[in-house]
Parts: sequence; C-alpha cells; structure tokens
Amino acid sequence: MGGTDQVQGNRRSPAAANGGDTRERNTVINLDHGDPKMYESFWKKLGDECTFVIKGYESLSYFSNPKSPCWFLEPTLEESIKSMHGAVGNAVTDGYSIVVGTGSSQLLQAVLYALTSHDQRNQINVVSAAPYYSSYAEITDLVRSELYKWAGDAHEFDKDEPYIELVTSPNNPSGVIRGAVVNRDGGILVHDLAYYWPQYTPITSSLEFDIMLFTASKCTGHAGSRIGWALVKDKDVAKKMTKFMEVSTIGVSKESQLRVAKILQVVADRCKRFGSPQADNFLEFGKSLLAKRWEILRETVKKAQMFTVPKYPLQHCNYTGDVTQAHPAFAWIKCKEGIEDCEKLLRNHQILTRGGRKFGSDPGFARVSMLGREEEFKMFIERLSMIKMFNNGDGNENRNLD
Ligand SMILES: Cc1ncc(COP(=O)(O)O)c(C=O)c1O
Repeated sequence: MGGTDQVQGNRRSPAAANGGDTRERNTVINLDHGDPKMYESFWKKLGDECTFVIKGYESLSYFSNPKSPCWFLEPTLEESIKSMHGAVGNAVTDGYSIVVGTGSSQLLQAVLYALTSHDQRNQINVVSAAPYYSSYAEITDLVRSELYKWAGDAHEFDKDEPYIELVTSPNNPSGVIRGAVVNRDGGILVHDLAYYWPQYTPITSSLEFDIMLFTASKCTGHAGSRIGWALVKDKDVAKKMTKFMEVSTIGVSKESQLRVAKILQVVADRCKRFGSPQADNFLEFGKSLLAKRWEILRETVKKAQMFTVPKYPLQHCNYTGDVTQAHPAFAWIKCKEGIEDCEKLLRNHQILTRGGRKFGSDPGFARVSMLGREEEFKMFIERLSMIKMFNNGDGNENRNLD
C-alpha cells in the first residue's frame, strides 16, 4: 500500500497451518503502518460513552457552517477541536480558521494547492528534512502537478527558488522535535503536528505557526474516521484549501465529523483532570502504555546488542506538570555496524517494518510502529530478543548464536 500509514491486516505464512507454537512463530507481525490499534482497549472500557447515533433524516445537506471559511466544517467539531487544544495547551486556536479534511493526508494536498498559484512560471519545490515522513514524496508527486514538485531532503536543498518546507514535529519516523532547516527567503512552512500530543512527547508550548496540521488518527486513534484538521492563520489560505476539498470531494463526511466531535469532546472533558485517580483520561492511558512499551523496548535492545534506538531529552511537560521524555509512536531502530538492511533482517524474523530508504535515509534503519495491539507488541519483543547472529551485512543471517 505504497508509502502510507494505512491499515493492513496481519498475514500468516503457509507454515502456520501446523498450529500451536509453530503458528505463533510464523505469524507475520505487521508493524509497518502506524495503525493505532493499541487504543482499542481504552475505548472498549469506555463503553457507550462515545456511542454516536445518527437518524435517517439527519445530516442530509452538503452544507454545515456558512460563517466559517470552511463551509462544510460541522460546528460541533469546530468546538471540540478548540476544547481539545485548550485543554492540552499544545496549539493556539484564537485567530485561526479551522479547515477539516479527510485525514491530514487530504489537507496536505490542499495546502500544496493553496500555497501555489496557476500564474507561477515554475513548479514550487516541496522539501522536508530527512528522515522525513515517507508519504510526503508520494503525495506531492502523485498527480505530477504543474504547481509543485517533490525536491527531497531539506538539508540538501540549495536552489535559489521558492519552496514549501514540511516540518514534522515530533518527527515521523524519528520522534524528535524539529524546526525548519532551510530558513531562506521565499520559503513557506507547513507544520505537521500529528504527534504533538502528551502521550507521545512533552508539551512545552502552545504553538502558533501559520499552518498547523493535526489528525484524529494519532490524537485519539480514530484513523478509520479519516478526520484531520488544519489551523490556518491566513483566511485566504484557509479558503483556498476549502476550495480544494470542494472540488475534490465536496466536503468531508458529516458522520465522521460528528463522531470525532463527540470523541474529542469526551477526551477534552476528561483530560482536564490529569493525574486524578478516578479519571479515565485517554492521554494518561496512552502515555503510560507507550512509556511501558518504550521501557521494555530499551531493555530488550540493550540486552540483544544488535540495535540502537534514539534517546530523547527530559523536558517539562506543561500538560502533565512532569519532567518526562518522549515516547514516540514509532521506534526508529538502527542495526549495529555491519548490517546494511535492517528492514530485511526484521522481515526474516516475520516482523514487517518500513526501511530507512523510504524516509530518505539509510537502510541500516527501520521504522517500527509502537501503536499495535498488546499481543503484537509482545511478539515483536520476543522476536527482537532472539535476534543474535553473525550476519553477512545485507540483512541475511549466516547462523544463529542461540
Ligand atoms: C506525520 C504524519 N502526517 C500525516 C499523516 C496522515 O494521517 P491521516 O491521513 O490518517 O490523518 C500521518 C499518518 O501516519 C503522519 O504520520
């Protein structure tokens, strides 16, 4: 499924028919996509609180919000997005227009359209610092637009030409907080803040960049609803993004918007009570589960001595009030010296990941989703701890030491 982080079910190898331990050993664990299934257990526990019913006569119209530059944005979604950012303190919403999209993937395309012009003579360069989110190149070049083109790693961009820089913070795949790297006249920044939530990283300030993209896929784990939103300072840019959606899909599903509105409001109301014992706080749940998984991963990696994972600085989180480190949605794993293909090595152990090359980086790295179900994570750790071998350098094992 190309470079996206979309859903793909687990596959079993033919040998799995044997049953028992063999089946377990042969089950392919798919940690290639950032599919947020680890959150299912939280939402199950909440029962009917987020159940959302829509009657046959409701939401028939194309239109939602004549006062907003984004005329198809449901007012309840607008309210709950503002409540959520207000409760967490990760982004300013006053003075911003909100544009809703079918995932932030559609908003990325809308942004590229909105920031370019049919009058320009040359295509605008789109860059992002490597390792960059693997879908950026694919999204930018999919329809070979005459308005913009993918120009690769922002570190290498040395043309004296207009550009759009996509700044992902925290970064997918590496989890680090990042800023712009080109810093030249004629550049426009788009901040992709899909993971700027307290379960993934300390919230150190309420951001107010010109264009900020968020998504329910990573915020609450409702990737299937396909709802993303952009906070946009310039009303004309917001209107042009809306135009893109108007022409491509005449708006965004109201069922999805209303469902996400409900869920965000439940999360926002509960997350105001961080740390209180009775609080079923979604962000607290996400943070403690990811912290536990990262601790287990670090111990395993240390023992196996085959891989390294990045270290993150301790920072004060304005939301939790704690000094804490990041627990990213992905582990950006590097194989030890001499192993050239980390993805291949892990694939040989039935673990599907995404190799470094897709992120404009080294194949010695692989990105592993930390957002899978508990049983997938456990199997991943078991297999990782068993990888000890002499290796011929290309990810093929010569012999096991175990
Ligand atoms: C950095 C980043 N931006 C955007 C997206 C797209 O998210 P969606 O289209 O599900 O909203 C993803 C998905 O994995 C992502 O990791």
